[in-house]
Amino acid sequence: MTTGDAVTGRDGVALREMRWWDMAGVLALEAELFPRDAWSEAMYWAELAGARGPGRTRHYVVAEAPDGTLAGYGGLSVAGASGEVMTIGVTGARQGRGLGALVLAELLAAAEEFACDEVLLEVRVDNAPAQRLYQRFGFVRIGVRRGYYQPGNHDALVMRRALDDRSDGAAPGNDDGETKDDG
Ligand SMILES: CC(C)(COP(=O)(O)OP(=O)(O)OC[C@H]1O[C@@H](n2cnc3c(N)ncnc32)[C@H](O)[C@@H]1OP(=O)(O)O)[C@@H](O)C(=O)NCCC(=O)NCCS
Repeated sequence: MTTGDAVTGRDGVALREMRWWDMAGVLALEAELFPRDAWSEAMYWAELAGARGPGRTRHYVVAEAPDGTLAGYGGLSVAGASGEVMTIGVTGARQGRGLGALVLAELLAAAEEFACDEVLLEVRVDNAPAQRLYQRFGFVRIGVRRGYYQPGNHDALVMRRALDDRSDGAAPGNDDGETKDDG
C-alpha cells in the first residue's frame, strides 16, 4: 500500500490512506477504543496536515470494510531516522482476525520507505493485547514513562523495533518492502 498497491486482509477489509472525509468515522472509532483519552478532531487534523506533500512526515491509514465502514486505523510519524507508531486500533467486533497485524505491517513498511532505522511506540502497561501484537513484530521494551497517560496517571512502556539497514549497500533483490506476513 505504501507503494500504491492495495493491501487486503480477511473479510475483504482493505487498507487505504486516511483522508479528511474519514474524520467522522475515525473519531467514532477513537471514542470506542480510547474512551478515557481519545484524540480530538484537532489532533487528527494536525496529523493529516503532515501526511501529504514532498516534506511529509506522517503516514495514516484506515482499514475499510466492504460496506464502507471503518474497521480500524493506524498512524506513523517520522522525525529524522526515527519513526513512531502514533496510534493503532481495530473496532471490537473485528479484533483477533489479523487486522491489527495488517495495519502494523503497513506502518512498518512505511517507516522503511521513510528510511527510518528504528520505530518506537508507547503502550499502556496494562494493555496486554497490544503488547503481544508489538512483540510478535519484534518490538522490545526499552523503558517506562511514569504517568504518561492522563487522566488516570497510567504508565507507558516504551517499545522499540530496529529496522534493517536499508542504505545504498542493501542486498540486491531484498528491497521490495514485503513485510506484510510476519505477524
Ligand atoms: C491492539 C489491537 C490494535 C490489535 O488488533 P487486532 O486486530 O485484534 O490484532 P490481531 O488480530 O492482528 O492480533 C490479535 C490476536 O488475534 C490473533 N489472530 C490474528 N489473526 C487470527 C485469525 N485469523 N484467527 C484467530 N486468531 C487470530 C493473533 O494471533 C493475536 O493473538 P494474541 O492476542 O494471542 O496475540 C486491538 O486490540 C485494539 O484496537 N485495541 C484497542 C486499542 C488499543 O489498545 N490500541 C493500541 C494502543 S497502544
